Amino acid sequence: MNASPAKLTVRQRHALAGMGIDVWAPVPEPARPVLPVAPAWADLQGEVAGCHRCALAESRRQTVFGVGDPAARWMLIGEAPGAEEDRQGEPFVGRGGQLLNQMLRAAGVTREQVYIANILKCRPPDNRDPQAEEISACADYLARQVALVQPGLILAVGRISAQSLLDTKTPVGRLRGQVHRYGEQEIPLVVTYHPAYLLRSPAQKPKAWDDLCLARSVLEPIAP
Ligand code: URA
Repeated sequence: MNASPAKLTVRQRHALAGMGIDVWAPVPEPARPVLPVAPAWADLQGEVAGCHRCALAESRRQTVFGVGDPAARWMLIGEAPGAEEDRQGEPFVGRGGQLLNQMLRAAGVTREQVYIANILKCRPPDNRDPQAEEISACADYLARQVALVQPGLILAVGRISAQSLLDTKTPVGRLRGQVHRYGEQEIPLVVTYHPAYLLRSPAQKPKAWDDLCLARSVLEPIAP
C-alpha cells in the first residue's frame, strides 16, 4: 500500500477494515442530506426516466440516474445497475456498493460528498455485460452529468467504465496506476477495480487502495 498506516486517521482505519485490509469493525453510514435539484438536472433526470433509446427500457424496473453531491469534486462512474440498484433506483446499493462506500471513506470522502453514476442507466438482464449500442445510446446522458458536476477527478470503477470512458480495450490492470484525461476538459481520470471483482478476489484490495491513494494525490478530498 502507498500510504503508511501511521498516517491514516481513525476514520480511514475503520474504512480500510471494511475493505478487509485491517481488522477493525466498519463504522455506521451517516444520514444522507436531501439536496435541491437545479433545473438542468431535473430536465436531464426526467429525460433519463422516460428513456426508450434501447431495448433495456423494456426489462428495467426503473432507470438509475445517479446520486450524490451535484457539485462534487470526485465523480465515480460504474458500469450499470444490478438487481438491487434496479429495485432501489440508486447506483451501488448492493454488497459491492457497501464495499465502495468503505473504499471511499478509506480515501477520506463519504458517499454523500461524491457524485456516483453509471455508464448505463438501466439494468442489463441477468447482469450481462452492456452492449456497445447500449453504451452509445446512454453516452450523452453521462456526458451531460459530467458537464453538470464538473468534477475535478473521475474514478472509473471497473473494466466497462474504464474502457468506455477511455475508448480503449486495454485491460484494467494496465489502465491502473496512471492519471488519464477525460473529454475536452481533460478531467483527470483514475481507474480502479470494480467492487464486485474485489469481493470475488479480496487479495486485490490493496491495489484498490493504491488506486485511491493515486486519486487522492491528484485531488485532495474535502473531508477530514
Ligand atoms: N455495479 C455497477 O457498476 N454499478 C452499480 O450501480 C451497481 C453495480
